[in-house]
Amino acid sequence: MPRLEKKIAIVTGGAHGIGKAIAEIFSAEGARVFIADLDETAGEETAATIRQQSGDATFIRCDVSSMIDVAAVVQSAAKKTGRIEVLCNNAAYLGQGHRAGEASDDEWEKSFRISLMGTQLFTREVLPFMQKQTSGSIINISSIQGIVGARNSAAYTSIKHALVGFTRSVAYDYGAQNIRCNAICPGAIRTRISPEIGSELHERQISKTFLGRTGEPREVATAALFLASDESSYITGAILPVDGGWTAM
Ligand SMILES: NC(=O)c1ccc[n+]([C@@H]2O[C@H](COP(=O)([O-])OP(=O)(O)OC[C@H]3O[C@@H](n4cnc5c(N)ncnc54)[C@H](O)[C@@H]3O)[C@@H](O)[C@H]2O)c1
Repeated sequence: MPRLEKKIAIVTGGAHGIGKAIAEIFSAEGARVFIADLDETAGEETAATIRQQSGDATFIRCDVSSMIDVAAVVQSAAKKTGRIEVLCNNAAYLGQGHRAGEASDDEWEKSFRISLMGTQLFTREVLPFMQKQTSGSIINISSIQGIVGARNSAAYTSIKHALVGFTRSVAYDYGAQNIRCNAICPGAIRTRISPEIGSELHERQISKTFLGRTGEPREVATAALFLASDESSYITGAILPVDGGWTAM
């Protein structure tokens, strides 16, 4: 039986990259997937491709920092069955590289509103459904920068660390209701934001891993699938690096 058979799953930032791979694998495992993203063209395209492969996917334009948008996505997702089994908070503000000395208030504000508050808003909206059904899996996409430091990324690194704390906090508060909350911390994964292959930064990324290569979005998606499925039924509050060994070095 597919691992997410008929489960309702919301994936934020599912139009591109890691979120897209997560939406695809959730759908391939039987979930009805709702993709919430700012990018309408790419989001519609991702949902259409999934449907062409006999999956069940709906795109809804959404800015995760807007309470109105978030509520609309959750209401649509719950409309048919009154249930929401899986939430994957993947959308983030990636921003410009900066040290604390140069980070503008605007950079901090966007990092906070999109990456952290977007996760909080979606979590708050789905919790009543998960509490009612006494089950649910929330997966937050943090980063290795939620575990270790990195250069030129004061706001991003701080907010990704905050997501780790948020994950543990939700896991603690809602565990008794069988609502699990875990975080994935991807390392260098090949998406449109990655440095060019062969560039100094790409070579540096490779040198930081045990496996001697960067990762693929699907390698993060398979971890998300495990955390979304009942196979991880006794796992909550976990912070899972998917980083080729980067943070173990
Ligand atoms: N690629 C990596 O190497 C890497 C490493 C560590 C962590 N991550 C994390 O993985 C996640 C996905 O990153 P990615 O590399 O796939 O990036 P990406 O840019 O390819 O995808 C991000 C998606 O989020 C959407 N988005 C951005 N702001 C939004 C908003 N306000 N509301 C709704 N959607 C919004 C974008 O439209 C896009 O579809 C992020 O949380 C990122 O921090 C990525």
